[in-house]
Amino acid sequence: MSAVTGGTLSRRDMLRGSAASGAGLLWPGVAHSEGGAAGLGDIAAKAGILFGSTMDKANEADPAYAKLFDRHTKLIVTENATKFSFLQPHQGVYDFSVVDGVLDYAKAHGKKAHAAALIWNDDAPNWLKGRPGREIERIFDAHIERVVSRYAGRFISWEAVNEPFFPVQGKPGGYRDGPWFAAMGPSYIPRALRRVASIDKSARLVVNEAFCESNHEWGRANRPLFKGLADRLLDDGVPLHAVGFQSHLISSWSYDDHAFQAYVAEFGARGLDVYLSELDVNDEVLPEDNAVRDKMVARRYQDYLTAVLAVPAVKRVVTWGLADRYSWWRYMTWEKSTNAARLARPLPFDDDMKRKPAYDAMARAFEARRA
Ligand code: XIL
Repeated sequence: MSAVTGGTLSRRDMLRGSAASGAGLLWPGVAHSEGGAAGLGDIAAKAGILFGSTMDKANEADPAYAKLFDRHTKLIVTENATKFSFLQPHQGVYDFSVVDGVLDYAKAHGKKAHAAALIWNDDAPNWLKGRPGREIERIFDAHIERVVSRYAGRFISWEAVNEPFFPVQGKPGGYRDGPWFAAMGPSYIPRALRRVASIDKSARLVVNEAFCESNHEWGRANRPLFKGLADRLLDDGVPLHAVGFQSHLISSWSYDDHAFQAYVAEFGARGLDVYLSELDVNDEVLPEDNAVRDKMVARRYQDYLTAVLAVPAVKRVVTWGLADRYSWWRYMTWEKSTNAARLARPLPFDDDMKRKPAYDAMARAFEARRA
């Protein structure tokens, strides 16, 4: 079973997986040539969509990958570097180097930047364990203060809270368990939003959630919980400007894109923007053959995007990486080490940075929104 379908891997295992390196992997490229391809960011912009992708350090090590970002993105998102355990791996010891590098890249290349997962119960370092609640609260406040004041004005938006819900853990209200929830209950969410807003007055503030876009039981459970949270935050006057739907589309799960479209529109009706924040297509159960698989992945992108982009509140699309070689799904496969010879192909560009059918599917979906 895969980690997302409820197997034995925890999110912590996933984080450890990030240490794996993509270097040395080569997969024969598909027929497409990248030369002359219109930038996805330009195509999306014509539809009123800010398009981007995640980078941490992969772009520094691989100039071909950096080129892909130059050409196709307008927004750069930190994949891991703004997570708590990456920023403060030991108490009081901060590592800002990767975030600084991403922001320098964005500035030098005229891209906007967005910070992902500032507060996430699934990403907390071991040193937090066993601390009393009061201390956890102080650490939480001090961390937000330090990080947001350093970068105020440089990120156009902060994902203040990632993945508030995970009802299978059995916590009251279906909230995701972790140090912040254990110490503060659900109040850690408005606390994070208010704190970020008080320091960075111009950035847009986002809460991001997993699984809602699917009909899997996790998605069905998360949908009303997440909508309820957004409503309460707005009713209470908490600063919140947008919600993010991760959109890791899992091929073995079932989807009703039109039902999700209607759900997304409800957030728009409350004045919130909607971001598709971590888009990719997990191809684990799709046929072995690359060409067949790539077409099915493309189809999934197109159906999903065409449905959801019909909602005017949708303002951003961000893929979780641009080229298969650097997809987190590769690391996940290695962690499981089952069928590791088969490499995930979840993104619009392949290992050689060539366009795949998913690129065309995305372009078509953006173009359809203009019509
Ligand atoms: C993932 C990163 O891509 C990996 O490099 C890391 O090992 C684990 O985290 N949902 C999220 C993201 O909100 O932060 C996760 O990112 C992917 C799932």
